[in-house]
Amino acid sequence: MNSVSIPTMEPDRQYYFMNQCKTLVLEKKAALNRPLTYNIQTFGCQMNSHDSEKLKGIMDEIGYEEVDDEAADFVIFNTCTIRENANQKLYGHLGHVKTLKNKNKDMIVCLCGCMMQEPHVIETLKQKYKFVNIIFGTHNIYKLAELIYSYLETGKQTIEVLDETKQTVEQLPRKRKYTFKSGVNIMYGCNNFCTYCIVPYVRGREQSRKKEEILAEVEALAKQGISEVMLLGQNVNSYGNIYDYKDGKIVEVDEKDRVTFPQLLTEVCKIDGIKRVRFMTSHPKDLSDELIEVMAEEPKICKHLHLPVQSGSTNILTRMNRRYTKEQYLALVDRIRAKMPNISLTTDIIVGFPGETEEDFEDTLDIIRKVKYDQAFTFIYSKRTGTPAATMDNQVPEDVIKERFNRLLTLVNEISNAQIKRFADQVKPVLVEEVNHHDASLVTGRTEENVTVHFPGTADMIGTTVDVKLTDCKGFYFMGERIG
Ligand code: 5AD
Ligand code: SF4
Repeated sequence: MNSVSIPTMEPDRQYYFMNQCKTLVLEKKAALNRPLTYNIQTFGCQMNSHDSEKLKGIMDEIGYEEVDDEAADFVIFNTCTIRENANQKLYGHLGHVKTLKNKNKDMIVCLCGCMMQEPHVIETLKQKYKFVNIIFGTHNIYKLAELIYSYLETGKQTIEVLDETKQTVEQLPRKRKYTFKSGVNIMYGCNNFCTYCIVPYVRGREQSRKKEEILAEVEALAKQGISEVMLLGQNVNSYGNIYDYKDGKIVEVDEKDRVTFPQLLTEVCKIDGIKRVRFMTSHPKDLSDELIEVMAEEPKICKHLHLPVQSGSTNILTRMNRRYTKEQYLALVDRIRAKMPNISLTTDIIVGFPGETEEDFEDTLDIIRKVKYDQAFTFIYSKRTGTPAATMDNQVPEDVIKERFNRLLTLVNEISNAQIKRFADQVKPVLVEEVNHHDASLVTGRTEENVTVHFPGTADMIGTTVDVKLTDCKGFYFMGERIG
């Protein structure tokens, strides 16, 4: 390696390594006289899906061809660790990959994402999964090409897991799943430390991207034909509070330079070509009246809010460190609905948090009945080592949790089935996303409220917005017909 010519600045440095890898891949393809393939398995949230698009962009650039199957020359697992079963799932996949690697000795196995930020996972991988070749975490995914090159050069297990985001590099290739909609990171990390949650430990401290950088990215996307953007962050409502850390210390944002999330939204909506703006996720404690105002006034902002409640019991919410009460959450929902009566509200709920009594659980059922969510994602509490809740007294027995979970599911389904019916017979703009998987005479799209609609159409409609009458409610989705 000629160290003199390696650029030190990003993104030049990664483009340099992409080129180096490209040469090696070309040589290997010529030697084998066949293409080299890759497969990425993505677990977890929207952030990970977004990160995987970046990984795919780099893999394509290097010269690998994407395939659907794990039996590829290069497999990447972009992992999640939010619940224990996410970890178990990965070890299951690795067992399979080991048998594949016995057949294809040159196969490269790469692990990245949230699970890699846990030291005990790295120890297990080093000891029991020596066939894994490249490992990195959440803070350096932009370095994929550099790490591949290092592995190809040395043939040694290459591990680089950082404790914090030292640098973010966004100007790299990206392979988008859709040509008309895209996620855009506006912030990284989380400072909330909900007591059950591992995210602040694996994604690090909160950092907002500069407004100018975000707007430039959205403008570029709009020029490429993207009409819907989803602004991504663990807690978008605290956007703008912290931009950077220097030597472990927060760099204060001067009041006059501070950009709030609603201000950012307003600017994004001004960009020509952007027709719909979504965002995820909102923490109720930080959702301002300014945001409600902007959402209500700005037609481009989709009338859908994902507002995780987690529990309806103030006692449990306190133990979860959520920093709102049941009453405050309900008052917030009232303020939102006063301005946007038809808004779609979705949520996350955890059952069986340590110390949850039958009374606490009844409070959760009560808040669901009161809010009437369009959709609720329900989770059984999972003990994450290292979080404060893991060592709390009164862990709830499994059978009690199961029984509560079933009651919760019944109620949640009943309410979302009833809620979705309010759209029956309405004509709604629908952004067409794909040809229906089961019936090629239909296309599938979404309303701004995130309601899925299937209706007769053709592939050339993908990416366009058409008016559709929602004729027939089928539980969680609608059948419709195009108007005009
Ligand atoms: N156990 C169960 N669910 C959890 N979540 C986060 N941590 C845990 C945990 N330890 C859920 C929360 C969060 C969603 C993304 O995952 O509801 O909003
Ligand atoms: Fe986890 Fe709470 Fe941060 Fe969401 S806000 S990522 S639940 S710590």
